[in-house]
Amino acid sequence: MTSSYSPAFSDRLAATAAAVESALDEALSTSAPLLAGMPARLADAMRHGALGGGKRLRPFLTLESAALFGAPPAGAVQVAAALECIHCYSLIHDDLPAMDDDDVRRGRPTVHKAFDEATAILAGDSLLTLAFGLVASADELSPAARLSLVSLLSRDAGAAGMAGGQMLDLMAETDTLDETSIARMQAMKTGALIAFACEAGAVLMDASQDERARLRRFGEVIGLAFQLADDLLDETADATTLGKAAGKDRDRGKKTLPALHGLQWTRDRLSDLVSEAEELLSPFAERGATLREAARFIAGRDR
Ligand code: IPE
Ligand code: IPE
Ligand code: MG
Ligand code: MG
Ligand code: MG
Repeated sequence: MTSSYSPAFSDRLAATAAAVESALDEALSTSAPLLAGMPARLADAMRHGALGGGKRLRPFLTLESAALFGAPPAGAVQVAAALECIHCYSLIHDDLPAMDDDDVRRGRPTVHKAFDEATAILAGDSLLTLAFGLVASADELSPAARLSLVSLLSRDAGAAGMAGGQMLDLMAETDTLDETSIARMQAMKTGALIAFACEAGAVLMDASQDERARLRRFGEVIGLAFQLADDLLDETADATTLGKAAGKDRDRGKKTLPALHGLQWTRDRLSDLVSEAEELLSPFAERGATLREAARFIAGRDR
């Protein structure tokens, strides 16, 4: 699997990260319309959890999925930033002592370490809630697109998506899981938001149902690859490179495919998933080049 990426890809990733950082900075400012009057401590905790780090891959997938169909509309970055708010909330809660109990995230203290547990819970709640406000108020988008995105995001972030997957992940710590159950857990806890990221691009561009379904499937495949790579890195990378704890999943009894099948199996599976993802993009021909590279990046990433 290739581990170097074209300059064009790296530039696009960096440009999206910068655009999302600035959209989040604005959305989380004390003068933001949706947050006027919020307690300063909560604002600080939200900003700690959302700004200044992260690969911003989900927003990248949304904007690049949209770009398959033309220039994304003004408002697409706001939707991408909303998705990142949900992702950041999921990390804040994932790190809590009641969940994975982690002290470091993106190379900095986790929100409950920098503040306290109650503040971390509330910062997560507030980022989650803000996300829906951001999508609903992206007024450059049609009301129909906003409604569709709110509804999809509600499903993919909630009990049938990310939050439900996190429930399965925690229950599995004390359970034995077969490959199918692990894949289902991964599809929910990580796959759902990544599938949303890709499908949202099609929704933003008012693409056909077939195109939406194809991008969703692409998102599901790379979502699985994303978590497989995360689980692999937990076993193979160091905490400094990752900016978060390494080598913890086994000790905590996490059920992962690398633990079940080993590292080589995982690398082979990742490479199959990349091929499957690339194949799904074939109807887009050259326009799919960036997303094809994104699939390779996700599977071959080192952090
Ligand atoms: C980590 O996500 C959590 C998982 C779903 C595996 P990322 O690897 O995208 O984390 P950041 O946003 O770049 O920090
Ligand atoms: C996280 O999975 C999935 C989420 C929905 C946040 P992990 O628990 O493996 O993510 P990291 O390794 O802490 O980033
Ligand atoms: Mg977890
Ligand atoms: Mg974790
Ligand atoms: Mg992990």
